[in-house]
Amino acid sequence: MDRSSDKNYKRDGNDGHKRKHTDVESFHKRRRMVDGDSSNVVARHYNQLPESGLRQRKQSKIYFMRNFNNWVKSVLMKTFQIRLDTEGQRSGIVALDVGCGKGGDLLKWAKGNVNKVICTDLAATSIEQCKDRYGSNKQKARGRIFDAEFIVADSSREKLLDLFDDPGQMFDLVSIQFVVHYSFESESQANRMIQNCCERLRKGGYFIGTTVNSKELRRRLDESENNSFGNSVYSVSFSSKDKFNDFGHTYNFHLDGVVDCPEYVASRENLENIAKKFGMRLVLWKTFSDFFAMNARDREFKDLLKRIKALEYFPSRSPNSNKPGDYDHAKAVCDDIMEKYPESNPRVGTLSSTEWEAASLYVAFAFKKIDENDDETFDVPASDINDIPLLVLSR
Ligand SMILES: C[S@@+](CC[C@H](N)C(=O)[O-])C[C@H]1O[C@@H](n2cnc3c(N)ncnc32)[C@H](O)[C@@H]1O
Repeated sequence: MDRSSDKNYKRDGNDGHKRKHTDVESFHKRRRMVDGDSSNVVARHYNQLPESGLRQRKQSKIYFMRNFNNWVKSVLMKTFQIRLDTEGQRSGIVALDVGCGKGGDLLKWAKGNVNKVICTDLAATSIEQCKDRYGSNKQKARGRIFDAEFIVADSSREKLLDLFDDPGQMFDLVSIQFVVHYSFESESQANRMIQNCCERLRKGGYFIGTTVNSKELRRRLDESENNSFGNSVYSVSFSSKDKFNDFGHTYNFHLDGVVDCPEYVASRENLENIAKKFGMRLVLWKTFSDFFAMNARDREFKDLLKRIKALEYFPSRSPNSNKPGDYDHAKAVCDDIMEKYPESNPRVGTLSSTEWEAASLYVAFAFKKIDENDDETFDVPASDINDIPLLVLSR
């Protein structure tokens, strides 16, 4: 079979044979070369994660938190696509999605001015699901969708640029959503991961993502009684309260039905220092609370909040959480409105305290690739706000 036009096959430089990027066997062969075939807990975890249908997702204890996380990602991706447009990027955007998982962000890419996305992940099963999802989106869009390439690779150990179909591939936007902390297992892995994300970004391009807020981890760990904290939907366990090491400082993270594996502390400072080596400057670092406050008033983003059910209505006949006190913050706002307007029937959108405790562990960030000669400085104040998102929907 002639594979010459098949994007998933690549000519091998030595013998002219074509090698499939997404091929699991080829990935394992490369893997044995880089790490002596050590079993990878993270890959195994994500490979065996079942795909859940909409009905199952709606019943999840973290239904609104997951929608809220999707809102943050959508707004972040859209914001930096708009910036690229206004900063002179007229033709379509070329993007890299590192740790794309099953392709949860494919529809977000499809909504923008995007020409091509390279999707890559460590978990071969996730890449297969991502590819299938892209195929059905393409069919639904009658072919009018961005081009895509799919690569199974460990971005913390392999050079991604060796695996692109086009050896000269450049990007305008690189997205790494809920992934970068896995690479902080060691300094060399974090370096490789960030190099993969930044070395093919053109000047003026952006590297955007979401990750665990190490300051918040520290705060909760210090307050904990037995080096663990959490609630009915998430838990984090450290082995001690020792000062965080820059790399390889591990904890176990569990999130109801979706995550259960080791993660590594990734501080803003270390991320920033590594990114700097690749010509990147931090332009945004926001807790999810702060990110919400910054964007929820924008009409398009506010509509999106409602459309994707990123917030839960309060009052509600069937609240997602039954824990007493979980909606006290929303009740207080509604009580205030009723005191001012006794005839009113207020309704707000928010998250339960239980879901928010998990969602508020994260931050959104963005780096810009600047000219080495450029001495532009960006002031990115520390963002410690962690108020529960709340939107008054009706009075
Ligand atoms: C929490 S999921 C996020 C998936 C997707 N980005 C999203 O937001 O829906 C983390 C993903 O990172 C991937 N991952 C973890 N370490 C990786 C690595 N070293 N290289 C590539 N992908 C990695 C996992 O396989 C998993 O799909």
